[in-house]
Amino acid sequence: MSEGIRAASVDDVEPGEALVLPLELSRTDEPISLFRDDDGTYYCLDDTCSHEDASLAEGWIEACEVECPRHASRFCLRDGTVQCLPATKDVAAHRVEVRDGDVFVFPGVPPDMD
Ligand code: FES
Repeated sequence: MSEGIRAASVDDVEPGEALVLPLELSRTDEPISLFRDDDGTYYCLDDTCSHEDASLAEGWIEACEVECPRHASRFCLRDGTVQCLPATKDVAAHRVEVRDGDVFVFPGVPPDMD
């Protein structure tokens, strides 16, 4: 498997914050974002809410969920599943690995659910 894409250093994103990856870096058609939960764990999801056009990276991150800043749908950071209306569709989740102080993402690869 590929080594993934180095998206950030571990300290680049504070707990409760997110970082939209430049498309040149992610090489994805749509933006993906790195989310750091309030416990410090990193996750990666498609950035655009499945309801309308809003950046989830601008949302509220807490307890393994991100709340859309526009109409407050929440998505699971682990697997992108939608948790409440008005969104009804999940967003894609991507694998993340932290190695030697750096955060790597694997666009298009499902997250490890261990
Ligand atoms: S745009 Fe995200 S819930 Fe409406």
